[in-house]
Amino acid sequence: MSACAKNNVAPSRAVCPGSFDPPTLGHLDIIGRAAALFEHVTVAVLINPDKRGLFEVPERLDLLRVITARWPNVGVDSFSGLLVDYCTGNDIRAIVKGVRAVSDFDYELQMAQMNSGLASVDTLFIPTNPKYSFLSSSLVKQVAKYGGDVSALLPPAVFRALTTKLAGD
Ligand code: PNS
Repeated sequence: MSACAKNNVAPSRAVCPGSFDPPTLGHLDIIGRAAALFEHVTVAVLINPDKRGLFEVPERLDLLRVITARWPNVGVDSFSGLLVDYCTGNDIRAIVKGVRAVSDFDYELQMAQMNSGLASVDTLFIPTNPKYSFLSSSLVKQVAKYGGDVSALLPPAVFRALTTKLAGD
């Protein structure tokens, strides 16, 4: 029995949602810090029928499994539809989001308030490590596409997958 369950406190499960196309060191930093705060963290990849990514969702899941393997309390899953429906269906009451800059905050706050209103699922914001405050999956893809070196911004397995993917295009 876990310490939380013994003390009659609800087990703490959180979700780190996102597109993860592909996952970066910034994502990994937030996932690791969430894993230190919660009993279990699910990294949930949105299946978005309106937006085809560079990586297919199963490829993103495989990459996430590899790069989060060091944390036994982190699982990987995909979801479609509303995030709050995924949360309530999986007994998850907290969403963890990284915030890189004030510019992220406006939209993140709107989503957090919407999710809280829809299903009483709360959002916790973790400030991104300043090392990664400029980092996004879109920028990484753009820079890599034109030959820029993004090796310091991605977990090695993701860097290899991105190199292979772009060489095949
Ligand atoms: O990595 P991203 O693309 O910034 O992640 C955005 C994501 C997946 C967290 C967000 O778009 C989301 O939660 N989508 C699921 C649909 C949903 O619940 N929409 C209402 C949000 S208030």
